[in-house]
Amino acid sequence: MAEQDASHGGSVRLEDVAVRFRTRKKDVTALRDVSLDVAEGEFVAIVGPSGCGKSTLLKLVAGLLKPSSGTVRLRGEPVTGPRHDIGYVFQRAALLEWRSARRNILLQAEMRRMPADRARERTAELIAMTGLTGFEDAYPHELSGGMQQRVALCRALLHEPPVLLMDEPFGALDALTREQLNVELNRIWRETRTTVLLVTHSIAEAAYLANRIIVMTDRPGTIAEVIDVGLPDERDYATTMARPEFADATGRIRDLLGAASAAD
Ligand SMILES: Nc1ncnc2c1ncn2[C@@H]1O[C@H](COP(=O)(O)OP(=O)(O)O)[C@@H](O)[C@H]1O
Ligand SMILES: [Mg+2]
Repeated sequence: MAEQDASHGGSVRLEDVAVRFRTRKKDVTALRDVSLDVAEGEFVAIVGPSGCGKSTLLKLVAGLLKPSSGTVRLRGEPVTGPRHDIGYVFQRAALLEWRSARRNILLQAEMRRMPADRARERTAELIAMTGLTGFEDAYPHELSGGMQQRVALCRALLHEPPVLLMDEPFGALDALTREQLNVELNRIWRETRTTVLLVTHSIAEAAYLANRIIVMTDRPGTIAEVIDVGLPDERDYATTMARPEFADATGRIRDLLGAASAAD
């Protein structure tokens, strides 16, 4: 893991974090001994078995959940409550059915009271960047699953968050659409230089997109290994898949997760 001076503090930093959930029936340790340092502009993928605490980890960074012990920092500041300087994308686009694509994106601006001119300008940029041109006025039911996720991505990026959290954002899409969105996400990340934390079940997606991959163990989730992918940031899909670094990374993830849980 990258060594970093405490005063410098990277983009996202977790130190000895543990999360325990207490329910009436039992206590669940969702995460333990998690330390992680993500640099500004880095793309980090998180893979691991179901229920190992991946979503919990993202919620900690967003300030939606407090750790039972340890500290979470975002851009050097301790996270003490919900943070507004992040973008969040989930598996379901969760668009408002009665609003057009553009107005779904603008919802973010309304909630944050962004200046209207700036919000409109940024919406137009994002629509072009994500290939939604021509669909600005379409309603969610008129959009494919892939397009709905593009709208959700625009909404998450509207306020130019320095950190983008993505929780299995392409999990519900067909394989071809997913590939296409992977290629677009690589390009958008290079254009925006936002720090990305992506939770995914797809080993190929993790290796294609990330600079580093956090592989987690079964519950209680802890970090089994951090893999440096070692590919250039700009990644052509076909040639990336054929590179030895890609094969090394995906092979290592499969070894760590074991054949049973490595099903893509
Ligand atoms: N609010 C909660 N209350 C109780 N248990 C929870 C809560 N949220 C998550 N858990 C439990 O914590 C573990 C990790 O959950 P989660 O982070 O959603 O896993 P993942 O995203 O890796 O599938 C699971 O066992 C889950 O049931
Ligand atoms: Mg999850």
